[in-house]
Amino acid sequence: MADALRLTGVRAGYGATVVLEDITLSLAERGSLAVLGRNGVGKTTLLATIMGHTSFHAGSIEYRGAEIRHVPVYERSRLGVGYVPQGRDIFPSLSLEENLLVAARPGRWTLERVYELLPRLAQRRRQMGNQLSGGEQQMLAIGRALMGNPSLVLLDEPLEGLAPLIVDALLKTLDRLIREDALTVMLVEQSAKLALEVTAQVVVLNRGRIMHHGPSAELLADPQRLTSLVVAS
Ligand SMILES: Nc1ncnc2c1ncn2[C@@H]1O[C@H](COP(=O)(O)OP(=O)(O)O)[C@@H](O)[C@H]1O
Ligand SMILES: [Mg+2]
Repeated sequence: MADALRLTGVRAGYGATVVLEDITLSLAERGSLAVLGRNGVGKTTLLATIMGHTSFHAGSIEYRGAEIRHVPVYERSRLGVGYVPQGRDIFPSLSLEENLLVAARPGRWTLERVYELLPRLAQRRRQMGNQLSGGEQQMLAIGRALMGNPSLVLLDEPLEGLAPLIVDALLKTLDRLIREDALTVMLVEQSAKLALEVTAQVVVLNRGRIMHHGPSAELLADPQRLTSLVVAS
């Protein structure tokens, strides 16, 4: 079976500015990959590049065995790449339910299933986007990505700025998605420990390059190495 995602020698950035250099990584179907690294190393740029939002300079991006480097964003999303951007990106003047429905594509994820997974959303279905708390907006962003019935979902700091109880609920949700659904997940997260606990594989970035690529459990078991890679890099 082809990998869900394979990047080879990717060089990308914004206009003429190159942020990512020579990124090579692969992610198996139903795999999960944490993307770690300090602020400004290129984590958001990496996810944005997979989604097609950056300037692509060189290399290749294969999604389920097909080259997508020249495929437009909307087509990548139609092919099953879901994206939860950093900063949530909710429509403020639509209700929560309308925010979910505008993203809907046929598949196993329906309003009912999203509400079952994230019951808080069901309770708040009639609220407008701008009346939701930060945690609710974050859950809505995840629910909205699922409504598009992705096979690969890219999550950019979905736990950022949330209260501990909500972080717990969202981590359980992520864990369930990774373990029980045929979903492939790429997760950017500031807390290395949390990210390593819910993923199988990890890449650590520094200045747009991959410094480390390996099993999450291995890095979780070696806090010194983790600190040297993520903090001192
Ligand atoms: N829209 C943009 N235009 C130009 N440079 C950008 C843009 N967004 C981010 N950058 C630069 O790209 C680098 C990586 O940023 P980013 O991918 O957001 O890092 P991270 O998500 O790891 O914090 C930084 O040097 C940042 O200043
Ligand atoms: Mg970022």
